[in-house]
Amino acid sequence: MIRVVFNQKGGVGKSSISTNLAAISANGGQRTLVIDLDPQCNTSHYLLGEQVNETVGDIKDFYEQTLSFQVHPKPVTDFIHRTAYENLDLLPSNPELGDLHSKLEAKHKIYKLRDALSKLGEYDAVYIDTPPAFNFYTLSALCAADSCLIPFDCDEFSRQALYSLMYNVQETQQDHNEKLQIEGIVVNQYQPRANAAKLIVEALLDDDLPVLENKISSSVKMKESHNESIPLIYFAPKHKLTMEFLALHGELTG
Ligand SMILES: Nc1ncnc2c1ncn2[C@@H]1O[C@H](COP(=O)(O)OP(=O)(O)O)[C@@H](O)[C@H]1O
Ligand SMILES: [Mg+2]
Repeated sequence: MIRVVFNQKGGVGKSSISTNLAAISANGGQRTLVIDLDPQCNTSHYLLGEQVNETVGDIKDFYEQTLSFQVHPKPVTDFIHRTAYENLDLLPSNPELGDLHSKLEAKHKIYKLRDALSKLGEYDAVYIDTPPAFNFYTLSALCAADSCLIPFDCDEFSRQALYSLMYNVQETQQDHNEKLQIEGIVVNQYQPRANAAKLIVEALLDDDLPVLENKISSSVKMKESHNESIPLIYFAPKHKLTMEFLALHGELTG
């Protein structure tokens, strides 16, 4: 199962949600891969901290080799890093990924990620984190994925932006990837006692948007876990925030 975590808006929780769901999946015994497509590299730092192994390479090396003819191109597995956590691997991003963007687009490399992932047999779950834009990398991820999770930060501007976002996903489904499903909207930084947040979620439900039952509340534990580069299931296994992620993961995997 390949999931893309997508929202054109930054700061809604894409990296936090992809990393923590992946860590829970791996902790539960599923062979899990995280792919970081955002040149900001937040997910890569979250999972690797400072211990980046420069010799292994990253997603930029993978894409660079698609731009020149290679008799024996390296398989994508050559760029995958082991993390400190059992069953959890990472294909890290690179700050220079943005420089390749227009070349990859001009040469129609949109299906390269999909093709590479279709050859990967060893993972039970793949989570793709994306940049805050609808660009070559997000489109590549949407082409490669089985399902799409949409983090949502309970903000009125974000709510309005959801409609064009859903449209973009549906258009990608029609034009590029018939199997792509919208798995659901993940409500993040939810404050159940704040009336405004409740009203916004009700407005989504009134419009028949697929809001997932299990919501993620706002907690300082999230920032602490980022700062320590330790996913919540290892950093604070008993914390309420971790329980919410476990419940969300359960809702997604049945
Ligand atoms: N549930 C949460 N509670 C508290 N802070 C959060 C929560 N989710 C995300 N954050 C914080 O918000 C910021 C943006 O989150 P991030 O996952 O990087 O979003 P994105 O990847 O969409 O840009 C980060 O500083 C993160 O620590
Ligand atoms: Mg991010």
